[in-house]
Amino acid sequence: MKDNLEWSRAEYFYSKDPLNGEKDKRIESWSKLLTSLPNVELSSSELKTEVSISLNWTSEQKRATENLLLDLIPWRKGPFNLGGIDIDTEWRSNLKWERFLSLGLSLEGKKVLDVGAGNGYYAFRMLGERAREVICLEPNLTHVIQFLSINHFLKKEEVKVIPKRLEQLTPKPNFDIIFSMGVLYHQRNPSDHIKLLSSNLKPKGKIVLETILSFEGSEMEIKNGKYANMPNVWYLHDANGIKDIAHQHGLKVSAYTKGHVTSSNEQRKTRWMPFKSFSDAINIKTGKTLEGYSLPKRSFFILEKN
Ligand SMILES: C[S@@+](CC[C@H](N)C(=O)[O-])C[C@H]1O[C@@H](n2cnc3c(N)ncnc32)[C@H](O)[C@@H]1O
Repeated sequence: MKDNLEWSRAEYFYSKDPLNGEKDKRIESWSKLLTSLPNVELSSSELKTEVSISLNWTSEQKRATENLLLDLIPWRKGPFNLGGIDIDTEWRSNLKWERFLSLGLSLEGKKVLDVGAGNGYYAFRMLGERAREVICLEPNLTHVIQFLSINHFLKKEEVKVIPKRLEQLTPKPNFDIIFSMGVLYHQRNPSDHIKLLSSNLKPKGKIVLETILSFEGSEMEIKNGKYANMPNVWYLHDANGIKDIAHQHGLKVSAYTKGHVTSSNEQRKTRWMPFKSFSDAINIKTGKTLEGYSLPKRSFFILEKN
């Protein structure tokens, strides 16, 4: 899936139509949904401590919007408070964001790329940290529509969620800070992913990598790509494995967080994600995943060009 799309072209197409050229039979109904969202006045927003949007709307507009947004289930990343609608997502993503903040890396005035951005929850939090601009890549169109629905009300032009994979863009050293959170273990070739992140980084730029670490050894291959009920999980590294890949591409690990084991406090079934979740992925008796692996343990790494 190599498109060799220039960044400037991708942004231009996005400005004309965010789903330009994408093929999906749901696009027509999504377009109707987006045009059905009410045009209401934004009274204020809070992005630094949470994603909370205050709107001057009627209870009828609020009820109609809630029903439209429920059509976009599953809502995985959040939570969002949209004019009193509590979008209680599967993940309490604010907890991951707090772990990132503990590293003390300033985003102020930075041009940021978020690879695998989901519905843009973190991109909004990045604006809350005074990032200048946040470009996101997200190939899953349900997440892109969720972003467009929220941003219909928030109206932040400094953030864009482009429906492409990193591999589809022609690399250019464009960004001060590049986030790749929860993406590395989905890659068939993790080393290529780090290399591509690095090729899009300005000199002296920083990569914020968040991933699941292996308990068992330096590199763990996942049979059938299935881990804790997640599909397409191929490799888990330990901290030394991450350092090795970084070195291969002229990067050094300048900071990291200690491993944090996922729990049902952070990932759970809700009204907005009513399907199987973390508790369905573990065997309570063994304290392991259903596939017999250790529970997911996640860490952040900051990678810098040497
Ligand atoms: C596990 S989710 C993580 C979402 C979010 N970054 C987080 O940390 O909560 C991984 C996301 O990365 C996206 N993704 C996977 N491979 C990608 C790639 N090569 N380029 C861009 N996005 C990718 C998927 O569609 C998915 O939404």
